[in-house]
Amino acid sequence: MQSKVVMEAINKVGNTQDKLLEVLIEVQSQTPGNYISETSLRDISKELNVPLSKAYSVAGFYSMLSTKERGKYLIQICNSGPCYINRGKAIANAFEQVLGIKMGDTTSDKLFTLEYTSCFGACDVAPAIKVNDKVYGNLTVNRAMQIINDLKEGVE
Ligand code: FES
Repeated sequence: MQSKVVMEAINKVGNTQDKLLEVLIEVQSQTPGNYISETSLRDISKELNVPLSKAYSVAGFYSMLSTKERGKYLIQICNSGPCYINRGKAIANAFEQVLGIKMGDTTSDKLFTLEYTSCFGACDVAPAIKVNDKVYGNLTVNRAMQIINDLKEGVE
């Protein structure tokens, strides 16, 4: 018996091997914590008849996908060229310091997850980050701290 979230995703997207990425995206979007669990990966592998290693490798390849549970706010810091050379690393360091976690980790209250991501098309306002789907550009360390404070106070 496969998990409900996997079966719903497959019913919606399709059950052929070429649907692997779409199924992974759908399962992640419907899973609390915005991730793909090991159980879900096993179920997807069986249902689509793809090797488990391939399901893992696709889930690990795309920065939008995660096999680790994430927080309510997913903070993705661009580390592609234009952002990186425009203080992107300093911004990442500031987020790590204020949240007390490293890149790739989630705060213990499950509120924030920090991740690097590749360019998402906001290079003209580098350095840029995304918080869930919202883009913030021309970031300074002070502005980054303000974003954290606002999110903690429920201002989105
Ligand atoms: Fe960062 Fe494009 S290089 S958004």
